[in-house]
Amino acid sequence: MHITVVGAGYVGLVAGTCFAETGHDVSIIDVDKHKVSTLQEGEIPFYEPGLKDLLIRNIRQKRLVFGTDIRQAIAGAQVAFIAVGTPQAESGSADLRNVLEVAGAIGDAMTGALVVVNKSTVPVGTARKVEQIIRQRTSHPVRVVSNPEFLKEGAAVEDFMRPDRVVIGTDDEEARHVMTDIYAPFMRTNNPILFMDCLSAEMTKYASNCLLAARITFMNEIANLCDAVGADVDLVRVAVGSDKRIGHSFLFPGVGYGGSCFPKDVRALDRTAEAHGVHLSLIKATDESNESQKRILPRRIFQEFGPDLSGMTFALWGLAFKPRTDDMREAPSLVIIDELLRAGAAIRAFDPEAMGNARRILGNRITFCESNYQTCEGADALIIATEWNEFRRPDFDRLKRLLRRPAIFDGRNIFDPNRMHELGFDYVCIGRNRNRFSRPDGQ
Ligand SMILES: NC(=O)c1ccc[n+]([C@@H]2O[C@H](COP(=O)([O-])OP(=O)(O)OC[C@H]3O[C@@H](n4cnc5c(N)ncnc54)[C@H](O)[C@@H]3O)[C@@H](O)[C@H]2O)c1
Repeated sequence: MHITVVGAGYVGLVAGTCFAETGHDVSIIDVDKHKVSTLQEGEIPFYEPGLKDLLIRNIRQKRLVFGTDIRQAIAGAQVAFIAVGTPQAESGSADLRNVLEVAGAIGDAMTGALVVVNKSTVPVGTARKVEQIIRQRTSHPVRVVSNPEFLKEGAAVEDFMRPDRVVIGTDDEEARHVMTDIYAPFMRTNNPILFMDCLSAEMTKYASNCLLAARITFMNEIANLCDAVGADVDLVRVAVGSDKRIGHSFLFPGVGYGGSCFPKDVRALDRTAEAHGVHLSLIKATDESNESQKRILPRRIFQEFGPDLSGMTFALWGLAFKPRTDDMREAPSLVIIDELLRAGAAIRAFDPEAMGNARRILGNRITFCESNYQTCEGADALIIATEWNEFRRPDFDRLKRLLRRPAIFDGRNIFDPNRMHELGFDYVCIGRNRNRFSRPDGQ
């Protein structure tokens, strides 16, 4: 099959490359000329484990090409995936300009029947809008399908190759057949392809992301309460997650979720509900609570050192919103940095992959270091904002020698509080602070 993918971001590039890997002829196009020329040379413009090898193999086998010309890419294609960005608009709803612009361009470029698949995360009802726009521009038959994507950055290839489920929104038999054919190679272990109407498919994506965001937020709040009463959230988390109805994933408390999806999708679902006169109190609270959680470490630091941090330096490990990505969108590290700089502190930071993106955002407001150890040279305390594996077992003696005082504020709970205590560190974490912040009897 000849498949065109519009948008060469995390989703479009991974999806297109994986389709090529199963034997299809795939054209991926993007408006960003620089990105396209980078990809044509076999380089990936962002960090995603395992993607580069697949990309190079499929370019060499001539199953995967990149371009900027949508007309050329649509002519002769049987299926076109829309995988462009849907960032947050000023109102908090999803900005659909890219998606609707691409719909128009696809309509203008069609030379025959086409299945158009919307993979971008879009508010309920968008597939209908896309179909209307395309039909206004062409007399060729078009079938619009909703196919939300559930991959995670950092494990995107694995997730795409072995999805838990694929969701397809369509009422059309022919489109259903085409989509089954495309996804069958990825569904060999009995994980289901779930067919439904477009509205339900669009809603499924938001419901999934918002539920995950709410789970994280719930445990953040439980962790904060654990600190207030003197309980240990790790023990609570394991015991709660052992209930088969609950499960263990997405129960790790921390400094709040970030990234290009959860924050904007939570807000967009809230705006969709408002537009339909429905009040989603849990969703509103999730967003509000998460914004507050991003400030938990600055709050702890002020408790420890007072509100004026002039003359103090903090080492910061981790800038990306999570490990195994260089994505800085809505990263909690940015809020932590802002708060500490505002209080007069200096920051020395390191991230294994996100230094380039962080530099573009932060310029010379902080010092970027060559290694995690270098950040600690002369720092008053160490802050951990992202749980990269390589931060989990540092040389603690070396840390103690480098830091001006042995204080660690761990926003990801990567160390054992007892061990840290034995090693002589003043260790503050999330929900496991051994009565440090608790008030007896809630007084
Ligand atoms: N990143 C994720 O983990 C993830 C997971 C699931 C779903 N999604 C959703 O998938 C969509 C894409 O996300 P992403 O992370 O890949 O975005 P991204 O920002 O990484 O990439 C989007 C790409 O679309 C291109 N683009 C924008 N307008 C275009 C146009 N008119 N024509 C051609 N190309 C255009 C941009 O240049 C960019 O390269 C979003 O709706 C997002 O919410 C993302």
